[in-house]
Amino acid sequence: MPGAFEGETVTRRRLMGLTVHTAGGITAAAFTLPALGFAIGPLFSREPFQWQPIGQPSDFPNNTYVTKVLTIVQGIGEAGKSIAYVRARNPSIDKEPEDQYNHFIALSSRCMHLGCPVRFVAAAARFICPCHGGVYDFRGMVAGGPPVRPLDRFYTRVNNGVVEIGPRYSVNSELQRFSPRDPGEPIDGIGQYLYPKRFSTSILPKS
Ligand code: FES
Repeated sequence: MPGAFEGETVTRRRLMGLTVHTAGGITAAAFTLPALGFAIGPLFSREPFQWQPIGQPSDFPNNTYVTKVLTIVQGIGEAGKSIAYVRARNPSIDKEPEDQYNHFIALSSRCMHLGCPVRFVAAAARFICPCHGGVYDFRGMVAGGPPVRPLDRFYTRVNNGVVEIGPRYSVNSELQRFSPRDPGEPIDGIGQYLYPKRFSTSILPKS
């Protein structure tokens, strides 16, 4: 081989080059793989959820909302809490199919524009977002402003005479259920494919 001493199968220059490239590859992997694992790993873990008791059925009228504090992320104290607006199902206005998970309607307080907390204004029967003027009607449907979809909801059920609240889900403009998406992600039409569900979302109870 040109440049090699007799009996050698690789030149010293080539051996040094291979060594340097191998060391560089190992160093790059040492930086890249942990970062990739940190970014991608959470996608494959499921968020656990617990059914949380929120009161007796009689605590919830069907013509206005009751505010309830929920724990949506366990183990981080106040930072893991959120607010849900809860009322009994009202057959005269709630036309989506009824099952064991929607005898009580529980709306997330997170605006579906950028996630600011919305406030229920009983006198107007509207949810108002203070950030950019988003407005939702009594059922949480978008009535004005920039939100891209109705307010998210939580599964509810009655267990031993107690109303319990479960995992969050998203709805499209026909109140069909989808696994939870982030604010700003429309799920009508092609949106449900542009923003598909993630592996990390809770496993939904079967209806
Ligand atoms: S975050 Fe609610 S309207 Fe922008």
